[in-house]
Order: sequence, then structure tokens, then C-alpha cells
Amino acid sequence: MTTVNFKKNILCVGAGYVGGPTMTIIANKCPNYKVTVVDISQERIDAWNSDNLPIFEPGLLERVQKARGKNLFFSTEIDRCIDEADIIFVAVNTPTKMFGEGAGKAVDLQFIEQTARRIKENAKSNKIVVEKSTIPVRAAETMANILHSGNSSVQFEILSNPEFMAEGTGIRDMEAPDRILIGSKDTPSGLAARDVLMEIYLHWVPKERLVTTNLWSSELSKLVSNAFLAQRISSINTIASICEATEADVTEVSRAIGMDSRIGPKFLNAGPGFGGSCFRKDILNLVYLCEFYQLNEIASFWEQVVSLNDYQMDRFVKRILQAMFNTLVGKKLAIFGFAFKPDTGDTRDAPAISICKRLLEEKAYLNITDPHALKNARKDLQDFEEGLDFVEDPYKAVEGTHGIALITEWTLYKELDYQKIFDKMEKPAFIFDGRNLLDHKALYEIGFNVYPIGKPALNHL
Ligand code: UDX
Repeated sequence: MTTVNFKKNILCVGAGYVGGPTMTIIANKCPNYKVTVVDISQERIDAWNSDNLPIFEPGLLERVQKARGKNLFFSTEIDRCIDEADIIFVAVNTPTKMFGEGAGKAVDLQFIEQTARRIKENAKSNKIVVEKSTIPVRAAETMANILHSGNSSVQFEILSNPEFMAEGTGIRDMEAPDRILIGSKDTPSGLAARDVLMEIYLHWVPKERLVTTNLWSSELSKLVSNAFLAQRISSINTIASICEATEADVTEVSRAIGMDSRIGPKFLNAGPGFGGSCFRKDILNLVYLCEFYQLNEIASFWEQVVSLNDYQMDRFVKRILQAMFNTLVGKKLAIFGFAFKPDTGDTRDAPAISICKRLLEEKAYLNITDPHALKNARKDLQDFEEGLDFVEDPYKAVEGTHGIALITEWTLYKELDYQKIFDKMEKPAFIFDGRNLLDHKALYEIGFNVYPIGKPALNHL
């Protein structure tokens, strides 16, 4: 076997949604670097070493296969890999803390701290440590304090390099990013470490897209990016309510305002509420930060973005209830889509979870269908033993139902034969299009009572 001399050894601690894909792209783009991803879960690492990856992301498997075994490795040998690495990315999960001080808002930093301690125990030479996980502002300081505690001569330089990829488009987002943000200390060693990281990204990212800041600005920018995006969604969802009350059309309003170049057209789709592992968590983290600095008005401004999101999910359920004669007892509904957005099987914080729970409380019977998320949906609703079924085939899911609630805008739902579906349903048949995905006029002509988001209903009754 020939031994390859790699320029540098990169390690990533955490083989999840961020660590696995980011390291795959780095390995693809930098064949002269050795990239290893470690995790405490043997099951997860085994999955990364198979063709049945632990996450579903379009284009990921081909890229893993291209580099795996050459310059991309997945392992559970954390301690040895730490010692061998020059650059260590930390991509462990940072969930919302659910206990004690800051419960429900603050970030649970236990995995970050454990990782920092493990790096310290095993590092025998200087390392650059890169925060990839989304963490509270000034977390780099905590890491530095742990890493530099005791009297070891090993030096650690900490950088912040938040990940902005969105699920489903992760590969594109990483291969052609809007920007790569690198925060460092303004010291000679901080700037030198920053340059080492920049050199990696310069293999494929144009220089003008690399943004360098101080550490705290970089950490804060990640939270603010997600807070601004989520805020746009809550804003347009408030307008959807006004549209339903006034017979205006939210799609038309979005288009009209989005043509103002200062506003821009993206992230203005009204829906049943935002989901995903980041938005709620990051806003609540921002709220906690504001409260910590006693910026209470600012905390409540951002908290309102989350409250409005909860309100939007609740409103969606109330609209179903009202349209279906104020009772769902004994009625069957097909749920089209459970993932928090299309092209992923991820259901973390998906609006479908709380919408389905509310519908079950109303004693509706649910047939849930989704092309990739049924396994997660089962787990999310495991407390409900009765009143629901998980069905792969949407045509089977609609049999004998009184209504359909579309929650995730999978393209396949656009391409179904709705006449065939209508024929299989109880009458009057209702359809609640939570994503304004379908052709409402055509559905109405088939005979459905159609309830879009932010538009007047098309009702035969
Ligand atoms: C988000 C950020 O976009 C990404 O930059 C960050 O790194 C992680 O968090 P992600 O959670 O994968 O990414 O999904 P995103 O595409 O942003 O969608 C989040 C939620 O907002 C979804 O539930 C989606 O359906 C909803 N959404 C999005 C809307 O309801 N309307 C829109 O116009 C856009």
C-alpha cells in the first residue's frame, strides 16, 4: 500500500447533520488533506461507512463514496484522532437546555464542554479548534478556558466558523456558499490560525466570499442570520391571516413586496409555521442572551417570532376544525408530509408534530404519509397509541378520509391524480393546502372544498 503524505490532518468531532456533510465536501475539494470524522456512536459511524448513510441529503452519498477510504475516514477512535489532528472542528449537538437555569431557552453546552475536555486530555501538540456547532456568543471563551486550564504547554487557537447550510440543499450551499464566515482573535496567532482555515476554503470558494470578523461577531452572526430568516416567515404568516380575513392573496402580496430589491423575494412563502432544528433553538438562544444582558424589550421582540410561529400552527388546526363543522370526532384526515420541509427525512421541530398532536386531541383519525419521514414521524408520535396510521402510498392514505392536510410541499404531492383521490374520499371532501402547493382552482372544479393559506377558501358548501 502506498502511503500518502497529506498536507494536514483535519478532524471533526460529531458525525451529525453538520459534521458529516461539511467534512465530505472538504475532503472532496481538498484531496491533499486527510479528513476524519469521529463520533461516540458506533452505530452512526457504521452507517457513515456504509451506503446507508445516517442522514438523507441529495448528492451526499456520491460525494462520500468518492472520498471515503482515500482522504475521508469515519471512526470512533476519538482519542487517537485528536492527537493526530492539526485542525479540529467541533460539530457536536448543542440542543436547547431542558433543565435548571435557562431551561427551554439556553443552549445545553455539556457536549461542547465534554469535547473540549477530551481534546485537552489527548492533544500532545498545538491545535486549531474550530467551532462549527451553533453556540452562544462568547462560547469560544469557555472553550479556551477549558483547553488552557492546567499547566500543559500545548497551545490551542480557537476559531468560529458557523455553518449556514440548509437541509435538502446542503451540498449546493456548501459547494457554492453565499459566504464563509471565520471569526478569530485579532492576535498574531489568532490571525495565523484564521489563514490556515482560509487556505482550506480557498480550494473552492472565491476569496471575496470569505468574511473574516472577530470571534464574537462570528458567533452572533449565526444566531442573527437564523433569527432574521425566521422573522421573515413569521412576518409573512401574520400577513396570511390578514389576507384570509380580507380576501387579499398572500402569494400576490409576497410577489409585490418581494420585487422591492430592498426586501427581496426569498423566504416570503406563508405556511403552517417554520420548523427544523435551528430556527426555534437559535432565536430562543438569542432571547436568552438578551435577557442575560437585561435587554428585556429586545428579548420580547425576538420571542414574539416564536410565539407567532406557534400561533400559526394553532391557526391551521382551527381552520380545519371550523371548516369541518367544528368537530373532528371520528373523522379521518390524511396528512400529506411530515418532514419539516421537502427533500429531507428530518422532522425535528416540524410543524406537523404539533399540528398532528392537536388534531389527535380533537379525536380525528390520522393517516400520515411522507416519502422519507415516516420512521421519524412514528417516533415523534409514539405517545399516541391509537388514532393514527403511517402509510407509504398517498393514494392508500386518502381512502375513506374526510379531508387532506398538506403540511410539507413535496413535489410528488403536486403530481398526484386528485380526481382519483377525490373518488376515494368521503364527501364533502376538504383539502387544506398549508403550503399553497396545489392548483386550487382545479381542485375546486373536481369537487373539493379548498382551504389555502392566506387566500380565500374555494367552498362548495
Ligand atoms: C436553516 C437556515 O436556512 C440555514 O442557513 C441554517 O444553517 C440552518 O437553519 P433549515 O432549517 O435546513 O436551514 O431549513 P430552511 O430551508 O431555512 O427552512 C426552515 C423552515 O422554514 C422550514 O420549516 C420551511 O418550511 C420554513 N419556510 C421557509 C417557510 O415556511 N417559508 C419560507 O418562505 C421559507
